[in-house]
Amino acid sequence: MKALGIVGSPVKGNTENLVREMVKKLGGGDIILLREKKILHCDGCLKCDKEGSCSLKDDMQEVYRKMESADVIVFGSPSYYDNVSGMMKMLIDRSVPYYMNKKLKGKKAVIITVGEESAAKAVPALKTMCDSNGIKIIGTIPVKAHSGKIAGRKSVEAKMDAIARKVRI
Ligand SMILES: Cc1cc2nc3c(=O)[nH]c(=O)nc-3n(C[C@H](O)[C@H](O)[C@H](O)COP(=O)(O)O)c2cc1C
Repeated sequence: MKALGIVGSPVKGNTENLVREMVKKLGGGDIILLREKKILHCDGCLKCDKEGSCSLKDDMQEVYRKMESADVIVFGSPSYYDNVSGMMKMLIDRSVPYYMNKKLKGKKAVIITVGEESAAKAVPALKTMCDSNGIKIIGTIPVKAHSGKIAGRKSVEAKMDAIARKVRI
C-alpha cells in the first residue's frame, strides 16, 4: 500500500501535521507541499480531452506521476472562505485530464480539512474531484482548530485509525 499526502496549506500548521500523521498511519509515503511547487492554473484549453494529458509544463507533471503511482492519496486543505485553499483548487482544476484518461480510477482517498468554524465546507470541492475521477473516498476528516489548537484531538486520531484499518482490509 503506497500512500501519498498532498498539503494545500501555505503554512506549516495543522493541515500539514495531520496529513503527515495520516500518511504515517497508512504505512508511510511521499508528502507533496503544494506551497513549494510551481503549479500554473488550468487554462481551460481542454486539450486533455483529446490528448489524455495536460499540455502545461510545470511541477504538476511530478504531482501527476506521484498521484498515479499511489494507492491512497491523502488530500489536506485549510478551509478558506468555506472552500479549499487557492493552491488546492489549482490542483483540483489541473486534475481534469483524469476525467478522460481515468488513470486515478479505483484509487483511494482521504480528505482532511481544517478550519476555525467551517472545515466541513471545504470537503465538497475535493469530493467532487474524487467522484468525477473515480477515486474512492474512504474517509473525510473535517477538523476544527481554534487559534491553531485542534479541538477534539482524540476523536480526530480515532477517525484516522479507523480509516487506516479500513484501507488495510
Ligand atoms: C484567507 C483565509 C480564509 C479563511 N476562511 C475560513 C473559513 O471560511 N472558515 C474557517 O473555518 N476558517 C477559515 N480560515 C481559518 C483557517 O482555515 C484556519 O486557520 C486553519 O487552521 C488553517 O489551517 P493551517 O494552519 O493548516 O493552514 C481562514 C483563514 C485564512 C487565512
